[in-house]
Amino acid sequence: MLLCISGSLRAQSTNTKLAREAARLYGGPHEFGDIRLPLYDADREEADGIPSEVTRLAGQIAGAEAVVISSPEYNQSIPGGLKNALDWVSRTKGTPWRDKPVAIVSAAAGRAGGARASYALRLAMTPFRPRLLTGPEVLVADARNQFDAEDRLMGEMYIRNLTELMETLRRAATG
Ligand SMILES: Cc1cc2nc3c(=O)[nH]c(=O)nc-3n(C[C@H](O)[C@H](O)[C@H](O)COP(=O)(O)O)c2cc1C
Repeated sequence: MLLCISGSLRAQSTNTKLAREAARLYGGPHEFGDIRLPLYDADREEADGIPSEVTRLAGQIAGAEAVVISSPEYNQSIPGGLKNALDWVSRTKGTPWRDKPVAIVSAAAGRAGGARASYALRLAMTPFRPRLLTGPEVLVADARNQFDAEDRLMGEMYIRNLTELMETLRRAATG
């Protein structure tokens, strides 16, 4: 099972659309992880433990054969909600990310397609020691104009690179 995580909570999120396209090209079943979590608070953790939605997300990561994360760029970095999710998951038992094949993609309004967010996410994930793929990069620029009426990704180069990235991810997952 492929796990998709979108860094955007927006209903019409281009990153959620990109993650769906990634799953389609990966092939086979997929599910989405939900990063709509309470804000990390060490006092809350001490008083109430790990919230059930965090345990669920960590379980999805641990159980997935591979993960694709599609993140928007917020002020040249990743959205706080995504970092919050990474921090919460790091507080769970076990090491759900360890050696997990992970592909990072991004969709953004800017011309760089969220390149800085992609790098920031790479850095943010380093402590968890996943198997982060290095490419090909999929950085969808001017993202709101890159999906058709059926939410299919347009643009030959994007489709070609996303196809290759997902083939690489599948190979990493299945050996
Ligand atoms: C707080 C905030 C900061 C943003 N900063 C950037 C940025 O640094 N670079 C960029 O390309 N787009 C930036 N954007 C625009 C987003 O790329 C755009 O809203 C994009 O559609 C968000 O992804 P989504 O469609 O998945 O929600 C920003 C948007 C918000 C709300």
